[in-house]
Amino acid sequence: MMEKPQLTDLVQTSLPKDEVQDVVDEYQSFHAGTVETRKQNYTKMVNDYYDLVTDFYEFGWGQSFHFAPRHKGETFEASLARHEFYLAHVLGLKPGMKVLDVGCGVGGPMRAIARFSGASVVGVNNNDYQIKRGTRQNEEAGLAKITSFMKADFMKLPVPDKSYDAVYAIEATCHAPDKVKLFTELFRVMKPGAMFAGYEWCLTPKYDANNADHRAIKKGIEEGDALPDIWYEQDVVEALKTSGFEVIDARDVAGNSDSETPWWLSLSGRWSITGFKHTPAGRWMTNKLVQLLERTKVAPKGSTAVSDFLNAAAIALVRGGETGIFTPMFFFHVRKPTKSKA
Ligand SMILES: C[S@@+](CC[C@H](N)C(=O)[O-])C[C@H]1O[C@@H](n2cnc3c(N)ncnc32)[C@H](O)[C@@H]1O
Repeated sequence: MMEKPQLTDLVQTSLPKDEVQDVVDEYQSFHAGTVETRKQNYTKMVNDYYDLVTDFYEFGWGQSFHFAPRHKGETFEASLARHEFYLAHVLGLKPGMKVLDVGCGVGGPMRAIARFSGASVVGVNNNDYQIKRGTRQNEEAGLAKITSFMKADFMKLPVPDKSYDAVYAIEATCHAPDKVKLFTELFRVMKPGAMFAGYEWCLTPKYDANNADHRAIKKGIEEGDALPDIWYEQDVVEALKTSGFEVIDARDVAGNSDSETPWWLSLSGRWSITGFKHTPAGRWMTNKLVQLLERTKVAPKGSTAVSDFLNAAAIALVRGGETGIFTPMFFFHVRKPTKSKA
């Protein structure tokens, strides 16, 4: 049985020990530059990031690397699963369908959706380490027949035109250097009439580029989460239309949470045994332990820097949620026109 990474494993499994600090430095250098620097270096920036943080994510969050609206009395895990199943529901997934999961992480959503719907899901991911972990997790879950990984950049898929019956993306297209180019590529590999749904990280209409506090929150989220830039919701909708899609539905679902349980609660949250590791107290404790492990040379040099930038990201995300200027769950549901020749 593949174990969840333990605290002493953090960062050690994804990169050779003596490379961690260099990768941290390289990652941070992209964020010292402009949006253009990050767009031009997106492959390296995103892969550096996931090489560094995947074990932290699995340790503190689980196998599904995304947020969800949450209801009072609903567990964190149940809220993530409900958010995933909603996509399977709107896409009408069923056995025999061939589905693409765009930017699939270690495959938590892919396994849940394949099991829920019976559809065959291929997860595209450009990160070798996540694919290695996810492939074993698919086998251990007994889902290897209907789930698999494709190692590729989602900006240029090694796939013939009109291959897929449906496509979904959960908090992954935010890493794309060019959304119209990405959506056009997804359009190409979809069969005419096929649907695409997902959740995108967006600025809400409340974001004011003239407000220094808003700009600092946006920058904190970009730096802490390997994003070239964050777009307004409406710009994402326009990019989907420009790529040829018919828009069926598009709306921020952050407000679907009960007021006591917003999506950022899991990062800002009060003490709870199960969610403790991602609360501020849990992250503080993880950070102190990682510092100790780094000082005693159990964890490689650079590990504390990773824990630090993940903490800074969490703080920026919570501020983004509290101010209402940012959402990680702008839901869209679109269709490739049935008569499309492309
Ligand atoms: C926040 S994670 C979300 C993972 C997954 N959707 C989930 O919810 O668990 C973003 C994922 O997108 C992948 N990704 C980012 N840019 C990519 C690219 N250009 N090509 C393929 N995968 C990419 C990352 O490697 C990572 O697995």
